[in-house]
Amino acid sequence: MSGAPGSPIDSVLREARRFPPSDEFRAGARLGSDELERLYAQAERDPDGFWADRARELHWFTPWQQVLDWQPPWARWFVGATTNLAWNCLDRHLDTRLGARLGARGDKAAIVWEGEPGDRRTLSYRELHAEVCRFANGLASLGVTSGDCVMIYLPLVPEAAIAMLACARLGATHSVVFGGFSAEALRDRALDAGARLVITADGGWRRGKIVPLKENVDRAVAGAPGIERVVVLRRTGHEIAFAPERDVWWHDLVAGASEQHDAPALDAEHPLFILYTSGTTGKPKGIVHTTGGYMVGVHATTRWVFDLREDDVYWCTADVGWVTGHSYVVYGPLLAGATTVMYEGAPDFPEPDRLWRVVAEHGVTIFYTAPTAIRAFVKWGEAWPARHKLSSLRLLGSVGEPINPEAWIWYHRVIGGGRCPVVDTWWQTETGSILIAPLPGVTTLKPGSCTRALPGIAADVVHKDGTSCGPDQGGYLVIRRPWPSMLRTVHGDPERYVSQYWSEIDGVYFAGDGARRDADGYFWVMGRVDDVINVAGHRLGTMEIESALVSHPAVAEAAVVGRPDELKGQGIVAFVTVKSGVVSSPALGAELRAHVTQEIGALARPDEIRFADALPKTRSGKIMRRLLKELAATGAVTGDVTTLEDLAVLLRLGGTDDE
Ligand code: PRX
Repeated sequence: MSGAPGSPIDSVLREARRFPPSDEFRAGARLGSDELERLYAQAERDPDGFWADRARELHWFTPWQQVLDWQPPWARWFVGATTNLAWNCLDRHLDTRLGARLGARGDKAAIVWEGEPGDRRTLSYRELHAEVCRFANGLASLGVTSGDCVMIYLPLVPEAAIAMLACARLGATHSVVFGGFSAEALRDRALDAGARLVITADGGWRRGKIVPLKENVDRAVAGAPGIERVVVLRRTGHEIAFAPERDVWWHDLVAGASEQHDAPALDAEHPLFILYTSGTTGKPKGIVHTTGGYMVGVHATTRWVFDLREDDVYWCTADVGWVTGHSYVVYGPLLAGATTVMYEGAPDFPEPDRLWRVVAEHGVTIFYTAPTAIRAFVKWGEAWPARHKLSSLRLLGSVGEPINPEAWIWYHRVIGGGRCPVVDTWWQTETGSILIAPLPGVTTLKPGSCTRALPGIAADVVHKDGTSCGPDQGGYLVIRRPWPSMLRTVHGDPERYVSQYWSEIDGVYFAGDGARRDADGYFWVMGRVDDVINVAGHRLGTMEIESALVSHPAVAEAAVVGRPDELKGQGIVAFVTVKSGVVSSPALGAELRAHVTQEIGALARPDEIRFADALPKTRSGKIMRRLLKELAATGAVTGDVTTLEDLAVLLRLGGTDDE
């Protein structure tokens, strides 16, 4: 097992428990084993025909001339076709142009929303359509047109979905920035994206406090002169600064706007959104997704993996600031004509049973969350979910990190009452949609494994030379063939797209994760092979945090590593050397942690700052994070130190076993 030459990661985890679908679940499932085998066979025999069939389940204004134009590593899907994603999410479900073919979902709830203070709203498909059209008309009246980039910096309110859909409808590329990110992070992303407009709110609610979104926007815009207009949603109602020539209230913008809007036919490859995600080196990467292929990928996977039925009440707890919120809070469920639940606030406000209260009161049937949340539920204890009737649930999901088998078992037993399959879904910002996951009516589950690749996805675990690993050998997780919802490029940096994803291992997409496949062909993902830290399900680049620390006047150098954290997956430890003349102290440590919060956001705040007089480096001057990681996790270093430039540095930091 494990550590073969060229293997990035060793495999030690073994799990023998098995959970086949119950007869009851199997009987009602939308995808049975015969149908699934047929899909796998078709995808293998004729990948283009397979994806064309998936695409035909959606509406296109003009058909494609070619399913895939593949000039490695550049892909164009559904070449020559035109469509509109918002039209497919909304108009398609109304009984206007298509007649009753789709069952006329006009009165069906599209979004069921609950604010943190307890306020609620339900928008039917007809109402959501009207809101999106009004807002699209409003944006158009501000001069927003196809090809513009619009930043969205909102709390998790229905308007976040409305803003995204309105942009998609107009062909304006949206870039959503998570409301927990700082003004500086927003500014950098707006500059990189070349955005002209920001959509924000006066604030959002988080643990009973107001998140000052508008204040952050004002500071960001001061450093991003390309931003011409700011649209402000009134959410909290508190006083904010308002620049009348630049700022416009959302409610004023839509006041006289028409509820009709003709969705333009957009090219299948029209850029739909840019979403920033951390990389190992340098600044965040703007991952670019386009319209047609993304739509096909999220539509198919939402229906397969979540086994969606007409009466489901589906809840994915992600924020729209992450890709999960794009694909499985907004676009996927709406494409499928489902009812999608959104909750604005913290899971433990006012008490740690908030999510279970939402499940019970709204009759949630499908619940999709992240392992970091599940670990928090475990920590808070079973008494909280026990207070509520969770019998409406029939399917559970997990995404964002490898899920620890014990957490899986707890989730299955305590939240799912032992009756709900748990779909562990592996994918990335870059992949756009789920690539590896169980089909709940067919797949026998193994806690901790995301099981098999979906039909049409050529996933494998390989050695550095690209040859497949044997059973249970740790290797690199790769995708051998392009898929419709794949990223098309890194915004403004095509070389990075090539070098980061398509160069590490010859001829295939390298996801950056280590994995193994067991004797049944199931995938077990073992985490990132690079230095990115996964905190609470969110990838953070060490480089970004280091840069933030070094931007403080007292700091000379910083190295940031992850260490295992029971709750967050990984915690952040920063090794910092101060400038000469500066005296390190606990007060300075606290100041640095606050500084990172200011520069990037609370998510990136180090759990611990360790002051050092020097950092261990290779002879070529690279910081040896591997050693620091070990030191942070165990307090000692036992690994190979032969490439270390100055062993004395390490001894002063914490010692080695062979000192
Ligand atoms: O390391 C994998 C982990 O999260 C990474 C992708 O992070 P991000 O782009 O932020 O997207 C998160 C939501 C899709 C992956 O490279 N990851 C995601 N899902 C899983 C996972 N690791 C193990 N099992 C999963 N189900």
